[in-house]
Amino acid sequence: MPASSTSARAERPEAVRVALLGHGNVGAAVAELLTTRTEEIAARAGVQFELAGIAVRDLRRRREAPGAADPALYTDDAKGLVERTDVDVVVELIGGLDPARTLVEAALRAGKPVVTANKMLLAQAGVELSEVASANGVDLLYEAAVGGAIPVIRPLRESLAGERVLRVMGIVNGTTNYILTRMTDDGMDYAEALAEAQELGLAERDPSSDVSGADAAAKAAILAGLAFGSDVLGTTVAREGITGIRSLDVEHAARLGYVIKLLAIAELVDDGPDVSVRVHPAMVPADHPLASVRGAFNAVFVEGESAGELMLYGRGAGGAPTASAVLGDLIDAARNLRAGAHAPAPRRHQAAVRPVDDLRSAFYISLDVVDRPGVLASVATAFGTHGVSIRAMEQDGLGTAARLVFLTHSAREGDVRATLDALAAIDTVVRVGSVLRVIGADDGAPMRVAGGHARRR
Ligand SMILES: NC(=O)c1ccc[n+]([C@@H]2O[C@H](COP(=O)([O-])OP(=O)(O)OC[C@H]3O[C@@H](n4cnc5c(N)ncnc54)[C@H](OP(=O)(O)O)[C@@H]3O)[C@@H](O)[C@H]2O)c1
Repeated sequence: MPASSTSARAERPEAVRVALLGHGNVGAAVAELLTTRTEEIAARAGVQFELAGIAVRDLRRRREAPGAADPALYTDDAKGLVERTDVDVVVELIGGLDPARTLVEAALRAGKPVVTANKMLLAQAGVELSEVASANGVDLLYEAAVGGAIPVIRPLRESLAGERVLRVMGIVNGTTNYILTRMTDDGMDYAEALAEAQELGLAERDPSSDVSGADAAAKAAILAGLAFGSDVLGTTVAREGITGIRSLDVEHAARLGYVIKLLAIAELVDDGPDVSVRVHPAMVPADHPLASVRGAFNAVFVEGESAGELMLYGRGAGGAPTASAVLGDLIDAARNLRAGAHAPAPRRHQAAVRPVDDLRSAFYISLDVVDRPGVLASVATAFGTHGVSIRAMEQDGLGTAARLVFLTHSAREGDVRATLDALAAIDTVVRVGSVLRVIGADDGAPMRVAGGHARRR
C-alpha cells in the first residue's frame, strides 16, 4: 500500500476507497463521476468515495479527460490492486470471463463488495459468485449488467420480491433494436441498417454477439435467475438472432398490425415451476408497450400475478448511462458495508427449463412457392398433418412465383418445426422464409389486418 494512500485514509477515515478495474467506455465514465461529483454524492448519499487505484491493460494508452484520473492511480496489476488493504470496494468493468472472474472472486473472498456490469460473467458464473458473496457476507451487485441505466435488477430483486412474476420480456440489446427500428420506420434493409449502426458506433465492427442474440441470451439468463430463481447458463439459452429478418417480413408485420422486435423472454410454463428462457425475434402487436421502444433504447416488461403489467424503459448502454447504474450500486454497497449488511442473494430453486419444442405460440411463416394450381392444397395439407391450424393467409403474386404468408393459431413449437420440414420437402415450395413467433395473438380475437390481403381460412 503506498504511503500516500495510508495518510489519505488516516485523514478521512470515513472515506470508502474504490478499486476500479477497467477504464474503457464505462470505467472512464465511472472515474469521472467519482472524481467530479465526490462532494455532491457525499451530501446526497452520505458516502465519501475515494479512488484507490485504476487497473488497466495498457499503461501506455493515453487517457483523455474528462474520465482521466491522476496518473499515479493507474496500474496494470489488477490482482495487486484488489488485494491492497486500503481498498474497500471493487468495481469490475473489464468485461469477459478472464481475468474478471478470478478478480471478482478474490475480492469477495477478501470480504470486499463487488459492483460489476459484466453480463457475460454473471450469465456464466453468477450463481457461484453470488454464493461466494453470501458466504463472505458482502454484496455482489450488477444493476448495470442488464439494461444499462434502467433499474431492472433491483426492482426484480427487491420491489417485486413478494410478487409472483409470471413473465419477463425484454428488449435488452440496443444494437438490434436500432437495426429493426430503421427497417420498420425507414424501410431500410438489414445490411443498410447494420452498416449505419456501425457508422454511429452502435454496433461493433464484428456485430455477431448482438445480431446472433448471444448478448441478449446472457441477459435473459440473468433475468430468469432473478425472476424465477432458475439456474440457467447464458450459453445454453435457446436463441435466434435477427440476421434472417427481411424488409418484406417487416412490411408484412406492419400490414398485420405488428412490429418485429428481438425479445429476451423468461416465463413460467404451465403455471410453473418450470420455466422457459429464450431469445428470438417476434411479432409484437403495434399497441403493445414494447412496440414503442425504438432506436437504441431498451425496456423490460414484467407481468406479475398481483402487480399486473409494468415496464422499465430507458438507455440500455453507453458509458455515462451505464456508469450511473454502477454508481447507484456502489452507494448501496458502501452503505451496506458500513452497516455490516449485504443485499439478499437471489433465491434459487431447481426449476426445469422446458425445451422450446414444448412451448406453444402463434407463428408467422412466409413461403416462396411456384404459382401453380394445387400448391395451396399441398401446403395446407402439410399444416394439417402436423396439427397446426392456419388463422390467416396473405398471398403476394410474383409472376410465376408467389409469396404466401401464414399466421397460425397457437401451436406447439415442435409441431411447427415438423410442418416446416414437410413444407420444405414439397417440390412447389421454393423456399421456407422467415418464421416468427407472434406475441399476444389471442386465438379468439379477430385478426387485425391493417390493409393488405389477409384472408381467413
Ligand atoms: N459499453 C457499454 O455501453 C456497456 C453497457 C452495459 C454493460 N457494459 C459492460 O461493462 C463492462 C465494460 O465495458 P466497456 O465497454 O467499458 O469495455 P471497454 O471499453 O473495452 O474497456 C475495458 C477496460 O478493461 C481494461 N482491461 C482489459 N483487460 C484487462 C486486464 N487484464 N487487466 C486490467 N484491465 C484490463 C481495458 O484496459 P485498456 O484501457 O488499457 O485497454 C479497458 O480500460 C463489460 O462487462 C460490458 O459488458 C458495457
